[in-house]
Amino acid sequence: MDDKIKTLRDWIAGSGNIVFFGGAGVSTESGIPDFRSVDGLYNQQWRYPPETILSATFFERDPEEYYRFHHAKLVVDGAKPNRAHLRLSELEREGKLRAVVTQNIDGLHQAAGSKNVLELHGSILRAYCTRCRAPYPAEKMNHCEGVPRCPECGGIVRPDIVLYEEMLDQDVLQKAVRYIRGAEVLIVGGTSLGVYPAAGLINYYEGDKLALVNLSDTPYDRYANLVIHEKIGEVFSQV
Ligand code: OAD
Repeated sequence: MDDKIKTLRDWIAGSGNIVFFGGAGVSTESGIPDFRSVDGLYNQQWRYPPETILSATFFERDPEEYYRFHHAKLVVDGAKPNRAHLRLSELEREGKLRAVVTQNIDGLHQAAGSKNVLELHGSILRAYCTRCRAPYPAEKMNHCEGVPRCPECGGIVRPDIVLYEEMLDQDVLQKAVRYIRGAEVLIVGGTSLGVYPAAGLINYYEGDKLALVNLSDTPYDRYANLVIHEKIGEVFSQV
């Protein structure tokens, strides 16, 4: 076994206070594309860049185009948790992992059995009416034709995700800060660490066991105590 993976395995074996912080790269091995890799969503041709489509202004102005993107790209039918999701949920059950902090909106950590999941950017598995705020079945929103409408008031339904230009839920953010600040081992994985405020959460970590597991370089590599540039599912299957 690779020395670095062995170090991570030893850190995990020796700790009862691990926190995981991840992003889209955690789900690529489940068949869900990330945003910034060469085959990621931001490198595919759309009428507008996905960062624009995923903004609050755009959603208001052109919900049809938003939902065309949502149905074609955000909803991936049949995606199943991979070895990273599964091992993380196992570590929680073993009493070693305190929380998963994720930027993902796919619900795969919960599908793997993780209970304490802090969703910084919300989830496409929840939906509500933008006018009367009534909840709406996410399954219906994710699989309808065109723009879903509220049966109560006719308002446009939206996913419970954080669009660009919107604030993160302060309660979720504060909880994430608390877990990360108090962690003995912080494992950060599958994120380019380029989107704020989420990426800045790393700065709250005060320990000396920061492991970064990501295929490509990140701006935080030089601050980490351990950097592993490999597929996260493969790494987690060995720890
Ligand atoms: P990115 O697409 O920016 O970064 C994903 C990272 O995961 C890249 O650095 C890849 O190299 C890496 N990666 C891909 N597959 C991997 C694998 N199998 N193992 C290890 N690493 C892998 O995604 P995020 O950092 O999550 O926001 O992006 C942050 C936010 O930007 C998203 O939450 C989304 C997006 O716009 C909103 O929608 C608000």
